[in-house]
Amino acid sequence: MGINSGAVRDSGTPRTRHTPSAICRAEHRSAGRARRGNTTFLSVVATAMIVTLAVVCVGGAMAQNRRAGASLRAHQERVLRVASQIGVDPWVIDAGRETYMGTCTACHGPSGQALPGLGKDIAHSEFVRGLSDGALLMFLKMGRSTWDPMNTTGVEMPGKGGNPMLDDDDLREIVAYVRFLQINAAGGAN
Ligand code: HEC
Repeated sequence: MGINSGAVRDSGTPRTRHTPSAICRAEHRSAGRARRGNTTFLSVVATAMIVTLAVVCVGGAMAQNRRAGASLRAHQERVLRVASQIGVDPWVIDAGRETYMGTCTACHGPSGQALPGLGKDIAHSEFVRGLSDGALLMFLKMGRSTWDPMNTTGVEMPGKGGNPMLDDDDLREIVAYVRFLQINAAGGAN
C-alpha cells in the first residue's frame, strides 16, 4: 500500500501549476467580453420588454379606469338628477340600491326588469307608477301572496322581499331606488 502509493507518486507525471499563457489569457478575456456583451444585450432586451409591458399594462389600466370613471360619473349624475326630481338626498338612492342589490335582485334583476319565472318587471310597471311612495312602502312590507287576486304570475312576492331585517327606513330607501329604476327605464334621467 505504502509502496504502491509511493510508486504512483514517483511514476506520475509531474504536476505543474496551471499558469495561463498569454494565449489563454487573451482567449479568456475575449470570451469574457463576449459574455459580458451578450449579457448586456440580453438585459437591454429584457428591460425593453419589461418597460413595454409596463407601458401597455399601465396604459390599459388607465384606459379601463377612465371608462369605469366615466360610467361611474354618468351613474352619479343620473342619481343626482333623479334625487332632485323626487326630492330626496342622493345618498338615499345609493343606500336603497345597496339594499335592493342584497334583497331584491335575486328575483327582479339589477335594473328591475325581472328574472323569468321569479319576479315581475318593476321598472316599467304601471302598478308601481300608480302607487304613492307610502303605498309602495306598504306593498313592499306586505308582499303579494299567490292567492291575491292581483297576483298574475302564480309566484309569491314575499313581504320585505323575504328579508325580515328590513325596517321602514330601509324600505323607504328601496322605494327611492325603485323610483330611480323607473325614471331610468323611461329614459328620464339619461
Ligand atoms: C323571491 C322572489 C322575490 C323577491 C326576493 C322580491 N320579489 Fe318582488 N315580486 C316577486 C314576484 C313573483 C312578484 C309578482 C307577483 C305577482 O304575480 O303579482 C313581485 C312583485 C313585485 C312588485 C309589484 C310589481 C307589479 O307590477 O305588480 C314590486 C313593486 C316588487 N315586487 C318589488 C320588490 C322589491 C323592492 C323587492 C326587494 C325588497 C322584491 N320585490 C323582492 C318576487 C320577488
